[in-house]
Amino acid sequence: MSKRILIILCSIFFTPALIWFSAQVVSGSDDDHTERSGFLLPQKHSTNLTREQLRGKELYQYYCALCHGRTGKGDGFNSFNMSVPPADHTDATVMSTLSDAQIHQVIKEGGSSLGRSPMMPPWGRVISDSEINTLVAYIRTLVTSGK
Ligand code: HEC
Repeated sequence: MSKRILIILCSIFFTPALIWFSAQVVSGSDDDHTERSGFLLPQKHSTNLTREQLRGKELYQYYCALCHGRTGKGDGFNSFNMSVPPADHTDATVMSTLSDAQIHQVIKEGGSSLGRSPMMPPWGRVISDSEINTLVAYIRTLVTSGK
């Protein structure tokens, strides 16, 4: 058998395999960027969080940290331009006045739904109810100070 025939035979067998393989890779991806496996950064130092809280953390870093800051102190880089400062989720005095249902509502329907500033945007169209629950669970882990 000449080399050329061998090459032709190989491409006949391998092309479908290659197409099948790339189809697998493509169908594994999702439009929602936050679902991509690469989105979860290594979480070596936060193994004390539950799966649910970790998911909340991912969403928080993506959507909320901009205003509320990466650690929830209300010091995200947007916060310096805002007339009403973003809530400080580490403040136990403030956070203990809010029920889980109220936190859920504020996230879903925005600050104005609870008589707070509309500077806190509504997320109901972007983040599903069950994902908002993970955010509530994560926000509850941020309380550190009793000031
Ligand atoms: C554009 C900036 C901005 C972004 C982004 C933002 N927030 Fe807020 N958030 C605010 C501001 C401002 C307030 C304070 C409203 C007030 O006190 O009147 C607030 C308040 C809150 C409160 C407390 C409400 C209360 O009753 O005290 C919670 C909880 C909250 N945000 C959660 C979130 C979550 C979760 C996200 C991400 C999904 C998020 N926020 C994204 C600006 C933002």
